[in-house]
Amino acid sequence: MTKCMDQNRIIIFDTTLRDGEQSPGASMNLEEKLRVAAVLEEMGVDVIEAGFPIASNGDFEAVNQIARTVGKSTVCGLARATRADIERCAEAVEPAPKKRIHTFISTSPLHMKYKLQMAPERVLEAVTESVTLARNLVDDVEWSAEDGSRTEHDFLCRCVEAAIAAGARTINIPDTVGYALPDEYAALIAMLINRVPNIDQAILSVHCHNDLGLAVGNSLAAVGAGARQVECTINGLGERAGNAALEEIVMALRTRADRLPYQTGVKTELITRASRLVSGITGITVQPNKAIVGKNAFAHESGIHQDGMLKHAQTYEIMTPESVGLTRSTLVLGKHSGRAAFKAKLKDLGYALGDNAVEDAFRRFKDLADRKKDVFDEDVVALVDDQADSARRIRFLSLEVLCGSKRAPAAELELEIDGTPNKVTATGDGPVDATFHAIRQLFPHDANLQLFQVHAVTQGTDAQAEVTVRLEESGKTVTGQGADTDTLVAAARAYVNALNKLLVKREKTAPEALTA
Ligand code: KIV
Ligand code: ZN
Repeated sequence: MTKCMDQNRIIIFDTTLRDGEQSPGASMNLEEKLRVAAVLEEMGVDVIEAGFPIASNGDFEAVNQIARTVGKSTVCGLARATRADIERCAEAVEPAPKKRIHTFISTSPLHMKYKLQMAPERVLEAVTESVTLARNLVDDVEWSAEDGSRTEHDFLCRCVEAAIAAGARTINIPDTVGYALPDEYAALIAMLINRVPNIDQAILSVHCHNDLGLAVGNSLAAVGAGARQVECTINGLGERAGNAALEEIVMALRTRADRLPYQTGVKTELITRASRLVSGITGITVQPNKAIVGKNAFAHESGIHQDGMLKHAQTYEIMTPESVGLTRSTLVLGKHSGRAAFKAKLKDLGYALGDNAVEDAFRRFKDLADRKKDVFDEDVVALVDDQADSARRIRFLSLEVLCGSKRAPAAELELEIDGTPNKVTATGDGPVDATFHAIRQLFPHDANLQLFQVHAVTQGTDAQAEVTVRLEESGKTVTGQGADTDTLVAAARAYVNALNKLLVKREKTAPEALTA
């Protein structure tokens, strides 16, 4: 991307699929990443950071597939300042019509001494070498100063100048550890604009973490000081306390245009869909009082507020629910709904499934509609998100559980493992315990169960149960979800789902590759 002509246009760089995916338990498989990328593109996100190609074959494949399918947004991959990282990244983003390499190195005294064990002069050389190499492979190169907010100013200026001289056209100054305060961070951006001689040849970007709850505040303060790219994630997903939330940045710019006269290209009406998609896939639920996308963000409970709202919505509402895509569904499906209505609903919910996947989903919808009178949007989302994908090694086939107050629970479970059906009966302290023992017997593994969570997708006793299971193995965590009107079937599906993700994660390279 060349330097933006419109001085008030803010480039939205989404890193849900890279920094967001680094959150514990947030790993996504290829098909899930493609779905997220498609929604980001449709939303009008300018740059999609699709992953860290050197980290694993799975990451490479995801970036590469996204580069093949996304046409409107720039597809970006992350690379450390090494030849291997940068070449692998270039190969991954190669098919994209608009591609970017994002290369980074730490510049703070603490990181250079302890993490990199490199002298500052050597880091400076690596900046020039890495950006030069990246620019030989693609036109659009972004350079980041990891731990930029804790870097000495003179040294940061020298690194930024070197990166621009070597051809970087976006310079990102991350607040990697979420330490900065808004006025301090804005002053840092202003300092770079004032002191770096070639700064007019690049766009300044910000990337804020939320350790002190200031990621969005810091990003907006930096925009006021001259930054024109904001790096953010859906639902604020990301390392530790997360990154700046895309929905909060974009809605703050839209709602407070009087004080923040900047524009983004984001279609805000797609925010709710993107938020639900990401939380559904990752199993990381959004807190009810979360700004913009929390369940209560537009709910008015107290009588005084409800009274005010009835008289004039703006008494208590600074933005409309419709502006973020929150609308009440009018089309509820049931057992008489046909394929056409079901397909229309899928489209409405933002799913672009292939013919086989639609057929599979339709079969499962019919099965659900036999057991449940009204099938709501949430049911369809749960059903599709839970759909088996062809890359899975383990598939759920059937489950029968005997339990009650008079007998020890026993679960008869059938799974297909690498194409072969296997059956076992196991007992346990309760029906869930018996079901999970059966899974362990059929597919022995050492992962620890860290979270078992059940919630009803909609209201009523016929509601689908959505179960979330988090497994941990050697410090790696994964989250799986399963939905069914039978809570135990949902639990088995969720566990199997998590196990499949764990098998993918086992392929990943050493965790130090992911220290960003
Ligand atoms: O937080 C950070 O510093 C990063 C960089 C790799 C941009 O994620
Ligand atoms: Zn980060």
